[in-house]
Amino acid sequence: MKNLITTLNSKSASALTGVCALAFMIAGCNASKNQTNIELNQNMMDQVSIKSQDWDPAQGDVVQMRTPPAHTVSRGHTPYKYATDPAGADNDVNPLAGDMSPETLTMGRVQYDIYCALCHGAAGHNDGSITPHMPIKPRVLVSDEARAYKDGRIHYAIVMGKGVMGSYGGQIPADEKHTRWAVVNYVRSLQKQSVSK
Ligand code: HEC
Repeated sequence: MKNLITTLNSKSASALTGVCALAFMIAGCNASKNQTNIELNQNMMDQVSIKSQDWDPAQGDVVQMRTPPAHTVSRGHTPYKYATDPAGADNDVNPLAGDMSPETLTMGRVQYDIYCALCHGAAGHNDGSITPHMPIKPRVLVSDEARAYKDGRIHYAIVMGKGVMGSYGGQIPADEKHTRWAVVNYVRSLQKQSVSK
């Protein structure tokens, strides 16, 4: 008798384990990692609210996302004053003018080595790793021509790009530490170190 109970218990235990495993497998049914699981209770999924990038039928099927009113600026974003005025950028004032402290130059060098050196070369001589493959060569940043650039012009090139050079405004954002201007000062320090050509 005792033996029979033990057998039954172990049988029902393994059946229970099987059912649980099956339940977990079904609950975890998922076509891919980027898809939501199969939802058994779907009430919460059909919402009346309109998704941010969706069309709004009540407005005659226009996109739900509204155009911001004129002259509004998104939070935390300072528009670049010279975005459409490259010549005017020459008058832009470098808040770090003359600051050749190790902190500022290190800040500039870190960004320069990441974003500029591959084309302009680590010391500004146009000998970056991809420079030989470029049909239109970058500017030698330590040339007499570049020495004569105003700080604001180099800053403009970083924010907006120049000709075939893309903008690095997204990678090197405007911030309280004036990182973009620190890159300008670092270019100046490269010019100081290099013998004028
Ligand atoms: C993908 C290659 C590439 C990278 C990366 C790059 N540049 Fe350039 N840069 C160029 C080329 C090419 C030109 C010349 C554009 C032209 O004449 O059409 C140029 C031009 C310039 C000029 C001259 C602007 C002027 O007004 O004449 C400056 C200054 C400059 N780059 C600075 C930088 C700085 C600082 C960085 C890093 C934030 C950087 N560049 C990253 C390719 C690059």
